[in-house]
Amino acid sequence: MLIDILTLFPDMFTGFLAGSLLGAARQRGLVDVRLFDIRDFAEGPHRQVDDRPFGGGPGMLLMPGPIVSCLEHVQAQASPPGSVILLTPGGRRLDQEGVENLAARERLLLVCGRYEGFDARVSQAVGAEEVSIGDYVLSGGEVAAMVVVDAVARLIPGVLGDEESARHDSFSGPGRLVEGPQYTRPRDFRGLHVPEVLLSGDHRRIEAWRQEQALAATRRRSAATPTPGAARRSQP
Ligand code: ADE
Repeated sequence: MLIDILTLFPDMFTGFLAGSLLGAARQRGLVDVRLFDIRDFAEGPHRQVDDRPFGGGPGMLLMPGPIVSCLEHVQAQASPPGSVILLTPGGRRLDQEGVENLAARERLLLVCGRYEGFDARVSQAVGAEEVSIGDYVLSGGEVAAMVVVDAVARLIPGVLGDEESARHDSFSGPGRLVEGPQYTRPRDFRGLHVPEVLLSGDHRRIEAWRQEQALAATRRRSAATPTPGAARRSQP
């Protein structure tokens, strides 16, 4: 899989890309990640990439010109054309199903926003999808792009040592349950004991217990998590 990242801050990715799982996957040729600096496509002596919003309002917006020129350059560097994903808090909220959908593509172009966001014509001009990693505002799309790359890369066959483990992750199996509690040694930690069933060696009982725990954990989590967007919907 090829992932191209367009950003004003390519240096932010250095440590992340070299990191253990992704670094190894890149070395093994399972995923290729390339970085492009949007400012290289800006014009004028100041290489301006942002400007004030028409109609007034706070902050600065990313101008469409440098981003679209950068995207056109990057698309021409490889084939097939990649899916263009703009990272922005107003985008479609990412979940594991969304990650699986992205992982099935051959090539992604992730565009990191900054300041107050993108001029709306970027999306229109290039037919982009907009993705948010959650209902909060980051100071830029770079951290969001790292989240996407990390979550997508671990679904690429061969990236995880144990192919089974992605299938058993929270949100991955039937019903998209979260995982229940897990334990390792010691059996007794400060008087807290590992549930007896896990030490029983009875695999059917263990599986039934795990399923029950996953259901309970999923229910507890839904009860503790407010319905996304509920606050906004209750506004007049
Ligand atoms: N840029 C700023 N906040 C973001 C978010 N929540 N998701 C994706 N990109 C962002």
